[in-house]
Amino acid sequence: MQPAARARAQEVFGVAAFADFRDLLALPGIEAVSICLPDNLHREAALGTLAAGKHLLLEKPLAMCVEEGEEICQAAARSGCHVMVGHLLRFDPRYALAREAFQSGRLGELVHVYARRNSAVLGPTRYGPNVSLAWHVTVHDIDLIRWITGEEVVRVTAEGSARVLARAGQTDSLAALLKLASGAFAVVESCWVLPEAYGSGLDAQLEIVGTHGVLEVKGLDQGLRIADTNGWTYPDTMRHARYGGRVWGLLREEVEQFVDAVLGGKPPLVPCVDALAALRVVQAIDRALAEERPIAMAG
Ligand SMILES: NC(=O)c1ccc[n+]([C@@H]2O[C@H](COP(=O)([O-])OP(=O)(O)OC[C@H]3O[C@@H](n4cnc5c(N)ncnc54)[C@H](O)[C@@H]3O)[C@@H](O)[C@H]2O)c1
Repeated sequence: MQPAARARAQEVFGVAAFADFRDLLALPGIEAVSICLPDNLHREAALGTLAAGKHLLLEKPLAMCVEEGEEICQAAARSGCHVMVGHLLRFDPRYALAREAFQSGRLGELVHVYARRNSAVLGPTRYGPNVSLAWHVTVHDIDLIRWITGEEVVRVTAEGSARVLARAGQTDSLAALLKLASGAFAVVESCWVLPEAYGSGLDAQLEIVGTHGVLEVKGLDQGLRIADTNGWTYPDTMRHARYGGRVWGLLREEVEQFVDAVLGGKPPLVPCVDALAALRVVQAIDRALAEERPIAMAG
């Protein structure tokens, strides 16, 4: 961590801050570590944390490639520590209730899924060229689809377009068609080039069609939107809203559930093998885009 960032963390949060994560691991009394470093630094920090025998909450995506993800999963299994990956949407009550409804059988057999995650052009500007759209954004929906339906992806077809981000070598938008093991399919749409004026909203949608019913999650609709002379804003009421002087929301829920799992000796809600399975699918999406052909999933 840079000196200025360390000083700010100490000042704002009143906590100790270190130049190198290994200094933190060496402190007595540290039982669990949360890693929210940029994607390309997950591997080294995660392996170091597990080698030190600390429980680990690791931000998504698990790693920069499937091989690194496998390495982290193997280290997690060897360590005997609790490891959870920050697939935040599993802590969103809307998706959790959607899963409960689907798994209760009231929608019948799965027919198809549609998932969308579109946002303003802030992500690629902020994260730079090392992160692909599929890896950074689509991975959320892949995890949700697997988690809610219990389905495995067996074949991937994808189309993408690049105009806004063409010079940066990035994809603006992609659509992936995922064949699922039961014979059903999922269509996943991701875009991160909506104009900045679109504001802070995240146009996320999930629709699950079954033989006996349908469910929909409208992710953009957090219950509050405000337009002023600067356009629309969608105040965060879900992720880390402040309410009554207290931080509330999915991130808090995620951390609390991780701590409860560690203290209670229970498996955390997002095991790293699930995050690895999602990586295999996003890797196949990127291959389908690059090679312009359907990719069969191994196994
Ligand atoms: N679950 C979600 O919905 C979600 C949302 C946003 C980001 N993320 C993930 O969270 C992670 C962090 O994203 P972010 O948006 O907070 O990034 P960020 O760049 O804002 O924050 C990264 C932090 O890491 C620190 N850092 C960078 N290099 C370091 C080093 N060598 N040693 C120590 N500290 C270092 C920086 O000072 C910064 O505080 C990424 O993996 C990202 O994909 C997940």
